[in-house]
Amino acid sequence: MRILLITASLLLVSFAVAQPQRGLNLMPMPSSVEPGAGQLQVDRSFSVAITGFRDATLERGVQRFIVDLSRQTGMFLKQKPVDSANPTLLIHAAHGSEKVQRLGEDESYDLVISKSGAKLTAPNPLGILHGLQTFLQLMETTTSGFAVPAMTIKDQPRFAWRGLLVDVGRHFIPLDVLKRNLDGMAAVKMNVLHWHLYDHEGFRVESKRFPKLQQAGSDGLYYTQDEIRDLIAYAHDRGIRVVPEFEMPGHSRSMFAGYPELASGPGPYPLDPGGVDAIMDPTREETYKFIDKFIEEMTKLFPDDYFHIGGDEVSGHQWDANPKIQAFIRAHGMKTNQDLQAYFNQRLQKILSKHHKIMMGWDEVLHPDLPKTVVVQSWRGQQSLATAAEQGYSGLLSFGYYLDLMWPAARHYAVDPMSGAAASLSPEGKGRILGGEACIWSEWVTPENIDSRIWPRNAAIAERLWSPPEVQDPGSMYTRLGELSWRLEWLGLTHRSSMTSALYRMAGTDDIAALRTLAELVEPVKDYTRMNSLKTALDFRAPLNRLVDIASPESDQARRFRDSVQAYIASAYTNQAAEKEIRALLAAWRDNDARLRPLLAQSFLLQELTPLSEDLSALGAAGLSALDSIDKSEPSTEPWRAQQLTFMERAKTPKADLLLMVVAPVQQLIEASAARTKKP
Ligand code: ACM
Repeated sequence: MRILLITASLLLVSFAVAQPQRGLNLMPMPSSVEPGAGQLQVDRSFSVAITGFRDATLERGVQRFIVDLSRQTGMFLKQKPVDSANPTLLIHAAHGSEKVQRLGEDESYDLVISKSGAKLTAPNPLGILHGLQTFLQLMETTTSGFAVPAMTIKDQPRFAWRGLLVDVGRHFIPLDVLKRNLDGMAAVKMNVLHWHLYDHEGFRVESKRFPKLQQAGSDGLYYTQDEIRDLIAYAHDRGIRVVPEFEMPGHSRSMFAGYPELASGPGPYPLDPGGVDAIMDPTREETYKFIDKFIEEMTKLFPDDYFHIGGDEVSGHQWDANPKIQAFIRAHGMKTNQDLQAYFNQRLQKILSKHHKIMMGWDEVLHPDLPKTVVVQSWRGQQSLATAAEQGYSGLLSFGYYLDLMWPAARHYAVDPMSGAAASLSPEGKGRILGGEACIWSEWVTPENIDSRIWPRNAAIAERLWSPPEVQDPGSMYTRLGELSWRLEWLGLTHRSSMTSALYRMAGTDDIAALRTLAELVEPVKDYTRMNSLKTALDFRAPLNRLVDIASPESDQARRFRDSVQAYIASAYTNQAAEKEIRALLAAWRDNDARLRPLLAQSFLLQELTPLSEDLSALGAAGLSALDSIDKSEPSTEPWRAQQLTFMERAKTPKADLLLMVVAPVQQLIEASAARTKKP
């Protein structure tokens, strides 16, 4: 049967008719939705029945669904599935899923909702889990109670690999924090946790065979093997695979703290900031003996078919500096350090193959000597994904999905694994693109702020990887992202609430209203600016309690203000609702500095915000002045505008590693004030 693809905008139009109060708040957008008539009430008589296949995974999934629905509604719902032919929601899976979840398993589901009941069917429990998340997202608060709109959904993912990488090397992330993020991933139908388990700064896995790895290689913060099994089971229950990453030969200095003989240069290798960019010695047989035993232990712990060996950013300084290694390169007819890394990767691949694992690596591993079974993860650009696919390698895209770069959701959303060079691949080449992964690297990430660095933006990437490529309207995305964002906090995610407690700490008092006004209009500097502006090596044990550590990567307030200014200008200054809103905000900002000053003066964490607060007030005053000119149709003077524009340039520069996000729209108002706005 041909599945009808409906774009997000069409969908919103059809739902604007059926449900005048709101659009269709689903994220990711399903591949096909047909609106029905009316809605299904969800009241205290709500019941679920399971027919067909059932196993513990399915039953626990249904149980969680009922708990989530109870939490969303505040109702005491029947906690167990019922034995009824007429439940509110009937669930039917045809058969079971694989014991160890496999890449490419069927994840499709059909959800039919009518006034009298809903039916969720799927080939296996994976589809049921996804369909239950869709049902939860459809829940609305209406004038007559809770309800889900009637509709028919047929849904399946566009890509089989939809992942999130979490780096726990730089800063340790405890199990409970990872678990709530797995809940968030399940809510947006992501299916791979890529666990970056160590880096130069810390080794986070218990090895029983080589205990000095975690003992010498961490600050005491690592996962025991029981904890790792627990997390994998938790993920499996939610339809999420766990792929571990063990960085080799670079990014692995923490391994050398306990086993310096693995490195290519003389140690010791303490876990201090600014240590050397140490890498493994691929010329010693002992290195491979160690790796073989280590991998054997880790492959028993991590059941997934795939095993990531890192392979990125191998600087080679230690290889250059070691005459024995250079002699080895020459003796084996190699020319470069890259050839030596390819030799190392080939040896690694054989070890992994012996332990029944498929090797993955970052795009630096791409080399003609590697077998085509290796999966390449592109992070330095989209070209490497296309090149790999063309040469016969499967691949994943992460370039464009780095959440730590603090980009707005729309910028990630616009990146498609099939765009750029991949667009001109043959059908076979395209078929090798498995999907993508969002990445959160943890240089500036803590258990406190990690949720706010992942959510809600990660949901935009999840949609890109699940939904049909035609679903790409940023306006619709932001509307649905806003809706999803508050629902995600029901899962225990703290991406919104963590800001409040952090502001209290920074202020040292409970009157944080003026501080919040400023905090909600700034964003951390973008890309690698924060790292590049450091004067010394990053100290991973330094506190992360400044506003830059807390501020949202994307300011909703600033985006809404920009939208209002756009709407006002586009209406030729006639949109009075927009003008009223703009005026109210500008006036509040103008007055905010006077309110915030006493607080800034009394906390060491707030003092660095003084110039930002001054800038915000000046922006408010300038914007109001420009609006007055526009309203009276009396153009502002050239010298005034020149003075304001000079100030705007200063206001755009980062302060305290933060950017004030409302400069550009105020500048637009100032520029607009140059012209007569009304006909004389
Ligand atoms: C990476 O960001 N070095 C994979």
